[in-house]
Amino acid sequence: MRPTAFVFDAYGTLFDVSAAARAAAAEPGGETLAAVWPKLAEDWRRKQLEYSWLRAVMGAHADFAEVTADALDWAMAAQGLGADYALRTRLLALYDELDAYPEVPAVLQSLKDKGARRAILSNGSPRMLASAIAAAGIGDLLEAAISVEDVGIFKPSAKVYALVEAHLGVPPSQVMFVSSNGWDVAGAARFGFQTTWVNRSGAPIDRLPHVPAHILPDLTRLSDFL
Ligand code: LAC
Repeated sequence: MRPTAFVFDAYGTLFDVSAAARAAAAEPGGETLAAVWPKLAEDWRRKQLEYSWLRAVMGAHADFAEVTADALDWAMAAQGLGADYALRTRLLALYDELDAYPEVPAVLQSLKDKGARRAILSNGSPRMLASAIAAAGIGDLLEAAISVEDVGIFKPSAKVYALVEAHLGVPPSQVMFVSSNGWDVAGAARFGFQTTWVNRSGAPIDRLPHVPAHILPDLTRLSDFL
């Protein structure tokens, strides 16, 4: 079935989660970070996701801003940077204005021109999402930024994916869910969405129930589904 709505994961799919550490490392005074930023960015992201899943399983929700700060604290401590409060503040500020991947505006415009509905469904808090969308200048190209804060649990809880129909009025079978996270794609497919996994890094496919229906190297060809 041809999708009528495209729903995007935010972090790693539309917004480059490595951009904060990369940018801070290039700023004056960033010499210490310059040597370790790729590892710090990787740890930061991995811990952020682990903490989101663990909080979901434990029933101990905190919003994604808190989870993101907790994960950064772990990643900085792992690099011996735990006492650098100025760097912590700077990295969290940069996380609120991550770069969008270069193809994002044109892809959203093309989907809009072809009459498809367009929204974000993200772990991000409403404040974080509004900030990133504004910084990327894509607010006019999206109809909604749906946050898990509406249900108080993180992906891949089915409660989160159910927010799409509640907000857009589009049944799951007509939704193309697009994520760079294999585990998010698995959760979305289990819920009944059509799925596209954006595999920017050439990663192996996740060994989870529900494989992606489509795999693309970036977002460029998405409107071919219409
Ligand atoms: C999100 C994270 C999972 O945007 O990337 O929901």
